[in-house]
Amino acid sequence: MSDIKIQNLTVQYLGMDENEKALDGVSLEIEQGEFVAILGAHGAGKTTLCLSINGIVPNMIAADMYGNIEVAGQVPPKIPVRELATKVGSVFDNPEFQMSQLTVFEEVALGLQNLGVDKETIEKNISGALEMVGLKGFEERSPFEISGGQQQRLAMASALSMKPEILVLDEPTSNLDPIGKEEVFTVTRKINQEEGLTVVIAEHEVEVIAEFADTIILLEEGKISKAGTPQEVFPELVDIQRDVGVRVPQVTEFASKAPKKFGNSIPVTLSEAIEGYKK
Ligand SMILES: Nc1ncnc2c1ncn2[C@@H]1O[C@H](COP(=O)(O)OP(=O)(O)OP(=O)(O)O)[C@@H](O)[C@H]1O
Ligand SMILES: [Mg+2]
Repeated sequence: MSDIKIQNLTVQYLGMDENEKALDGVSLEIEQGEFVAILGAHGAGKTTLCLSINGIVPNMIAADMYGNIEVAGQVPPKIPVRELATKVGSVFDNPEFQMSQLTVFEEVALGLQNLGVDKETIEKNISGALEMVGLKGFEERSPFEISGGQQQRLAMASALSMKPEILVLDEPTSNLDPIGKEEVFTVTRKINQEEGLTVVIAEHEVEVIAEFADTIILLEEGKISKAGTPQEVFPELVDIQRDVGVRVPQVTEFASKAPKKFGNSIPVTLSEAIEGYKK
């Protein structure tokens, strides 16, 4: 069964011209446990797609929405964002903006308290969520005095404490240093592989996407222009990187310039490149 089913979704923010659309006829299906990366240039609609899945558009950010969207059996525009958070967790690009409490524990507790969950369940869920992101022992620390990577993992713990089946991450590493990026990617992969959560992530780190993603969706001006595995999509982007505003993995670029060596199986990860090179 599909976890996310979107048919002909069009989104227009208030104030946009009649022919201007943030999403324009997007259709896709994402299976339970799938790892999906959304790529696209500045303004292509990546954030709008993420916010349509977690219901923030149109429930908190006003927009006209047409078409059908079903997420974990729910119709996001029809239920409060806070309620949908028990199905869809969200992590955004700026970790600090997501923090509001004095301690890590209180930060994770907030969403559960808002839902009126009992104290025992709150403590159990917080403990499990902090464990999952590697922040056990940080309970009494200030969310503002930990590293960016730790803050993003805290944001992930807040989302995970609600026991969602989907995690949506909108450029979660864009404000992090290399170590913070690595931490967030490692936890994201663990959540996907060990906990079986569906992951939808807008992300520019194509080398990581090539390793982790089952599926890549390329957005151009609000439309899906390509979709497929990294092995299918990246080789097709080599010659149009500038046009679509997306880089391809370095090994893909290299291999495409050495077609005699690699033939039709252009690598997208380093290990694939090494294997191909040995042949
Ligand atoms: N709140 C808003 N009100 C009006 N227009 C908006 C709003 N948010 C985004 N847009 C417009 O919608 C289109 C899609 O924007 P979106 O933020 O989804 O793109 P993006 O791919 O996430 O871009 P970026 O790489 O900059 O994050 C753009 O034309 C943008 O200017
Ligand atoms: Mg964006």
